[in-house]
Amino acid sequence: MKNIERVIISKALKRVDFGKEINIKGWVRTRRGNKNVSFIAINDGSTINNIQVVVDLTKFSEEELKPVTTGASVSVNGLLTQSMGQGQSVEIQATEIEIYGTADPEKYPLQKKGHTLEYLREIAHLRPRTNTFGAVFRIRHNMAMAVHSFFHERGFFYFHTPIITSSDCEGAGQMFQVTTMNLYDLKKDEFGSIDYSGDFFGSPAALTVSGQLEGELGAMALGAIYTFGPTFRAENSNTPRHLAEFWMIEPEVAFIEIAENMQLAQDFVQYCVNWALKNCIEDVEFLAKMYDNELIDRLKFVIENDFVRLTYTEGIEILLKAIENGVKFEFPVEWGVDLQSEHERYLVEQHFKKPVILTDYPKEIKSFYMKQNADGKTVRAMDVLFPKIGEIIGGSQREEDLEKLTHRAKEMNIPEKDIWWYLDTRRFGTAPHSGFGLGFERLMLFVTGMQNIRDVIPFPRTPKNATF
Ligand code: 4AD
Ligand code: MG
Repeated sequence: MKNIERVIISKALKRVDFGKEINIKGWVRTRRGNKNVSFIAINDGSTINNIQVVVDLTKFSEEELKPVTTGASVSVNGLLTQSMGQGQSVEIQATEIEIYGTADPEKYPLQKKGHTLEYLREIAHLRPRTNTFGAVFRIRHNMAMAVHSFFHERGFFYFHTPIITSSDCEGAGQMFQVTTMNLYDLKKDEFGSIDYSGDFFGSPAALTVSGQLEGELGAMALGAIYTFGPTFRAENSNTPRHLAEFWMIEPEVAFIEIAENMQLAQDFVQYCVNWALKNCIEDVEFLAKMYDNELIDRLKFVIENDFVRLTYTEGIEILLKAIENGVKFEFPVEWGVDLQSEHERYLVEQHFKKPVILTDYPKEIKSFYMKQNADGKTVRAMDVLFPKIGEIIGGSQREEDLEKLTHRAKEMNIPEKDIWWYLDTRRFGTAPHSGFGLGFERLMLFVTGMQNIRDVIPFPRTPKNATF
């Protein structure tokens, strides 16, 4: 086979130098045709669109084409030609075809279109080759680029917080332990407690649930930072919105209070959504067509409208009024309860029909580090609630007063010896500061219109499932 420089299919489809011989490589999506001509649709992952290779059967034998079946990997030399077919501008008249790898039609699991998403989860090692997952993962890459671009443009520094840690930021006891100890032969002390002195770190360690506490250390030195990394939660919630391993973006900013924090959250999400419409429109349109025909309107709506801001207390009042008017919820509503997804979605989808930022939650249902309000009952928390998703962001202004913070940590049974380093930021040069965490896969759910969080990360980790 002649050695011709390979052209990526996304680029080839835009070329107009017809008559030129080029090389493309990719995986066969379909082959059809008749006695005289064969049409091979090839995809190399660079775009949702396939390129059509036209094979003149007077130049190629049936025998040569036999292994060119769905899933096979091929290299094709051919002449770039203006296409007469509908829905494509460019095709390739094959001059030479090389097969790198066949895919036995009896065994290759991605034969036909229209597999269910549930089935595709079972073959997560192959599903990136489908149109749907190609689109989702190209968008995922783009969202990561948008995240870095947004913060870089605004002068934030990307701050790497540890993945293995000894601090439980959210204090919810959902950490995965990390140990090199022999579980068959655990040493215990005289009280029956496990002796960690011989363990790798010499003390209990776990995978992080959030980079926030270390992120605050960064913000109290560099001014404005963000983290973007994997976080882990051993919460046994088998829902379409929870993963045991998910990616979180956590900006943390010195000298800003909650109002600016809310604006930052809104600007950030709008920037990412706008990026998707600008840079991934073909993939977004494909997903809209396949799964959710209101997707693009919803994305535009979020970019064009301010998020509604109200307090938790006002939110509860609206929910109570709704109940009076006959709306039914599964979980009870009263001041003090943690809002369930059904409540959040009522506020967003039924009542305001807009993204909502709820603030000033009861301190009992929020973490120890949040700034306490003068009422003694609420803290300066903020949750951003989105249509179809519920909570997409959780954040707060942080308690900068050493005494109040120490007091609250004690009330919540967090030993001072575990957070002495965190408290030092309040001991030395403390300042107002705020931040939040955006669940990357929740953003992905919103932008792709996919329904299940397992379908927006390549290899989901959920209870009882860590295959691949
Ligand atoms: O509300 P969370 O627990 O807040 C924090 O971890 C803070 N330390 C963030 C901060 O202020 N820096 O989590 C933040 C976001 C949630 O709003 C949600 O989008 C996502 O992380 N999230 C999950 N996403 C997928 N699976 C899970 N199990 C998630 N838990 C939280
Ligand atoms: Mg939260």
